[in-house]
Amino acid sequence: MVEFKSCIFNLDGVLVNTAKYHYIAWRRLANEWGFDLSPEQHEQLRWLSRMESLEKVMEWGGITYMTEAEKLYWADVKNSWYIQLVSGIKPEEVFPGVIDFLLALRAMGVQRALSSASGNARTVLISTGLLQHFEVVTDGTQIRKNKPHPESYMVPAAAMGLRPSECLVFDDAPSGIDAALIGGFSVVGVGEPQWLHRARLVVPGFENLSPQHLFRKIGAAQTHELLPGAGIL
Ligand code: G6P
Repeated sequence: MVEFKSCIFNLDGVLVNTAKYHYIAWRRLANEWGFDLSPEQHEQLRWLSRMESLEKVMEWGGITYMTEAEKLYWADVKNSWYIQLVSGIKPEEVFPGVIDFLLALRAMGVQRALSSASGNARTVLISTGLLQHFEVVTDGTQIRKNKPHPESYMVPAAAMGLRPSECLVFDDAPSGIDAALIGGFSVVGVGEPQWLHRARLVVPGFENLSPQHLFRKIGAAQTHELLPGAGIL
């Protein structure tokens, strides 16, 4: 069995479903600008940064130009609506099995870190009660380079004094999987396998998943590391 000293978790879409709140806030902005945003359009915003998302929404509304100051203004407006929404997130909105998985890691002496590109990660962690489960939290206020740059995983690993090979990353985005691999981390994809084939292992979520079982599977998958998707659980 591979012994990892730490597990580093992405937040949005891995531990909590925050996408629905991003959708409400982006849709409200589109409405403010005089048009609507479909769930299918919002799906395309998944994994984009706040400014990239804003530019996409502008494009859908036929808004071809805004000054940087105007873009920042509207990004702040959207963010204030989003913060109002996620301040009310309840612990029940944490995905099934997540808390048990974190507690099992703790019992095994494995450090738990959180890494998110969101500037609102701490608000979500506090509202859901997840904050207490992490020894290290890295959020969008500390990360300058967008994924697939590995910074978002290098920073928490360095904070724990660990090498990438000692950490196991969990991410739901293709760019997040790439960021981990480029940084030299082992990575588990969380979600739908069709997006995550570059991860050595993919799990649908944490329900009924034991760290020991997962670590054993990773040990086995490493013997097939040149076969993409070979380790889908
Ligand atoms: C995460 C989410 C994205 C979001 C980004 C920035 O990566 O998956 O949907 O756009 O964070 O989030 P923020 O809360 O700072 O706007």
